[in-house]
Amino acid sequence: MEVLEEVKSKIEEFIRVCDYPKVNILLKELSSGKMLRSKLILKIAGVSEESIKLCAVVEMIHAASLLHDDVIDEASTRRGKPSINALYDNKTSIMFGDILYSRAFTELSQMDKRVAYHISNAVTKLSIGEMMDVDLTVSFNSSYELYLDMIYKKTASLIEASAKAAAILVGLDDKKYAVYGKNLGLAFQMVDDILDITQDEETLGKPSMHDFVEGKVTIPYLYLYDRVEDNEYLKSLYKKELNKDELDWLKVQLKETKALEDAIKEAKNIGLLAINSIKDEKNSEDLIKIMKAMIERDF
Ligand code: FPP
Ligand code: MG
Repeated sequence: MEVLEEVKSKIEEFIRVCDYPKVNILLKELSSGKMLRSKLILKIAGVSEESIKLCAVVEMIHAASLLHDDVIDEASTRRGKPSINALYDNKTSIMFGDILYSRAFTELSQMDKRVAYHISNAVTKLSIGEMMDVDLTVSFNSSYELYLDMIYKKTASLIEASAKAAAILVGLDDKKYAVYGKNLGLAFQMVDDILDITQDEETLGKPSMHDFVEGKVTIPYLYLYDRVEDNEYLKSLYKKELNKDELDWLKVQLKETKALEDAIKEAKNIGLLAINSIKDEKNSEDLIKIMKAMIERDF
C-alpha cells in the first residue's frame, strides 16, 4: 500500500526534528512490521493529513513499546531482524524507545483533544499490561480473568484506541469502532497464543510450544488446567525445557480435553463480536475481511 510509505515518511519527518543523526540511523534499523494499526486507521478514517499523522504517532508508540519489551524479555530478534538491544545494547534500545515515544506525544498534543486523550490513555494501559504480563509469569496463573485483562491491556488497548481515534477524526460512531478494535486485538493475541502450540518451529521462526516454557499460561493451557485430571503434573511441567514424552503428553491432553479446540472457538467468537459491532456501518467490508482473515484460517 502506497499510503503506508507515506506513514513511514511522516515518521522520518517527526524524527528528523530531533536533529541528532544517530536516531535517523536507528530508525533505519527498525523493521516496520505489518503496520496493522495503520491499516486499521486508514480503513476507518481514509487518507488525510490527520490520519497519516495519527498512523505515524501510533506506530512510533508501538515501536517504542517493543524496544522496551525486547529489553524486558531479553529478546535477540524482532520482526525477523536482530533487535536493537542485540545490535547495540539495552541502553540504546531504552533511550531510542524514549525518543520515539516522546516525539509521538509531542505531535499527539497538537491533535484533536479526544484523539490525544484516548491514545495517551491507552499507553498507560499498555504499560500496566506489560507489568501484569511480567508478574503473571512469576508463578502458574490459573485465572482466565487475569489473562484476559492482561492481553486486553498489553495488546488490545492500543488497537482499540487507534480504531476509536480514527472514527473520531471522521465523525463516525466511535463506540462501535472501539468495540471492533478491542475484539480484533483480543482475538489477535489469542490466535498468536494458539499458533505457538499448533505451528512448527520453521513457520514460527522460534521454537514451538515455547510460551509455557517461558512462564506464559495462555488460553489453551488455562482450559487444560481446568479439565485435565492430573493438573499437578501439568503444573510440574511449567517453565521447564520439556523432553519429547512431556511434549507428547501435553499435545495429547490439549487434544483429548478439547482445550485447544475450545480456545480456537473462543478466539472465533471474539472475532464475531468485532464483526457484529461494525457490520451495519458504511464501508465496513474491509474491516470484516481483516477480522475474518485472522480467524478463518488453518490452525
Ligand atoms: C509485546 O509483548 C509487548 C507489548 C505489546 C507491549 C509492551 C509495552 C511496554 C513495554 C510499555 C509501554 C512503553 C512505551 C515506551 C510506550 P510480547 O513480549 O508478548 O510479544 P513479542 O513476542 O512480540 O515480544
Ligand atoms: Mg516480547
